[in-house]
Amino acid sequence: MAFSKLMTIFLYSFTLAFLIQTSFGADPLFHFCSNSGNFTANSPYESNLKTLINSLIYKTPSTGFGNGSSSLVQNQNQQTYGLALCRGDVSPSECKTCVSEATKEIQSRCPYNKGGIIWYDYCLFKYSDTDFFGKIAKTNRFYMWNLNNVSDPSTFNYKTKDLLSQLAQKASMNPKLYATGEVKLEESKKLYGLTQCTRDLSSADCKNCLDAAINELRNCCDGKEGGRVVGGSCNFRYEIYPYLLKSN
Ligand SMILES: *[C@@H]1O[C@H](CO)[C@@H](O)[C@H](O)[C@H]1NC(C)=O
Ligand SMILES: *[C@@H]1O[C@H](CO)[C@@H](O)[C@H](O)[C@H]1NC(C)=O
Ligand SMILES: *[C@@H]1O[C@H](CO)[C@@H](O)[C@H](O)[C@H]1NC(C)=O
Repeated sequence: MAFSKLMTIFLYSFTLAFLIQTSFGADPLFHFCSNSGNFTANSPYESNLKTLINSLIYKTPSTGFGNGSSSLVQNQNQQTYGLALCRGDVSPSECKTCVSEATKEIQSRCPYNKGGIIWYDYCLFKYSDTDFFGKIAKTNRFYMWNLNNVSDPSTFNYKTKDLLSQLAQKASMNPKLYATGEVKLEESKKLYGLTQCTRDLSSADCKNCLDAAINELRNCCDGKEGGRVVGGSCNFRYEIYPYLLKSN
């Protein structure tokens, strides 16, 4: 099991390394369908999921985060839980576009799965038939990296880890569980970092989640000009170019 998960991460990362060069912001980065079971068409679960999705599309954009659960039918097995999170610099209208697209896309990719997760540059959406709020998601992670190598990996890796560790601390102290920052590299280059957690986590768990992701830097993006470790509860990104939206 552990082996096949690692393989999945590896194989998909490999594919993504190629995708990353051709994809645009509006395409999903990645998704997983859960294997917790299927629902049937026109079932109470389906109707609860649709209600949940509509409420998240409505309530997420104003703050960039929404969570909720839905069980119109009083039946334990039909309850669905979900959340949506937009990247911290994304405007309410872009957030709404992204969450709408994400919920539509995951339903077409995992049509009858009781759970799933999908990531975009601007947002993530996940849903499940079990209550996951406040718990760090340890499975369903993926890596992305820039194919270009840096010229001085040991200094670069050190600076990257140092910046991201500071941003993990900073994000955990921000009510939005989000932080960005930059440091100077040699010549006029800069390193741009971002950390973010889903807001169902406590401050301490946000820090724990990010520290665990940062510990994967070596596996993910050792000596690479850019990289991300992305999970269901937190993610980081670093690049040597600015990627945040300028208008915000
Ligand atoms: C769920 O549906 C998928 C196809 O959408 C199918 O491959 C899978 O076997 C089903 N799983 C269960 C537990 O019925
Ligand atoms: C980066 O380094 C790896 C390992 O040394 C090498 O295989 C790869 O071709 C390099 N990538 C580029 C873009 O030069
Ligand atoms: C959102 O998540 C928190 C846990 O962080 C939970 O206490 C709360 O009930 C959830 N909200 C909804 C509407 O489900």
